Amino acid sequence: MRVLVVYDTVYGSTAQIAGWMAERLNGFAAVAATVSRFSENPNLADYEAVIIGSPIYRNDQILESIKDFVTKNNTALAQKKVGIFVVALDTGGAYYFGRLTGGLEHLKKFAALFAKSPIYGKVLGGEQVPTKLSLKDRESLVNFYRRVMGSDEVPYRYSMNKLKVWEYATRF
Ligand SMILES: Cc1cc2nc3c(=O)[nH]c(=O)nc-3n(C[C@H](O)[C@H](O)[C@H](O)COP(=O)(O)O)c2cc1C
Repeated sequence: MRVLVVYDTVYGSTAQIAGWMAERLNGFAAVAATVSRFSENPNLADYEAVIIGSPIYRNDQILESIKDFVTKNNTALAQKKVGIFVVALDTGGAYYFGRLTGGLEHLKKFAALFAKSPIYGKVLGGEQVPTKLSLKDRESLVNFYRRVMGSDEVPYRYSMNKLKVWEYATRF
């Protein structure tokens, strides 16, 4: 089976996860996996299965580029085996004033974009490197961490887990 792992990223962690995903998939004799950023315009006709990944940014959103990719390719994707994943620092989510946010809710919103439901999805841990952040991202994170920690420092955070990525690839 030919599998496309397609993603977008801002700072690179989702690209690394997509690479880990393909590395494991290619360990199965019957699978040939290719990784492609959405902007490379991969040809979906070349694949029987597609795994689509996006990081989570402001207001618990996946990237617009990935929303557009799904919308534009919805007819083709309905003919294929599809998996989704999101990359986030808060992988668990929370209950907030009567509604669930984050965690699996990310997958619910992402899956709702598809004409035919994906067969598998998971929230995977990401990375935050303060020195890499754009001014705008740094500002919004400084506000967040000021409230949480009472300091203007944006911490380095790492929750990437290759084992969990490989588990995803194996189950898919
Ligand atoms: C401005 C900004 C907002 C973010 N908002 C969230 C969020 O709401 N929830 C969350 O779990 N992670 C959030 N993150 C963390 C990212 O999802 C995480 O760092 C991810 O690994 C980034 O993926 P990328 O390196 O592929 O761009 C945010 C990161 C930045 C820089």
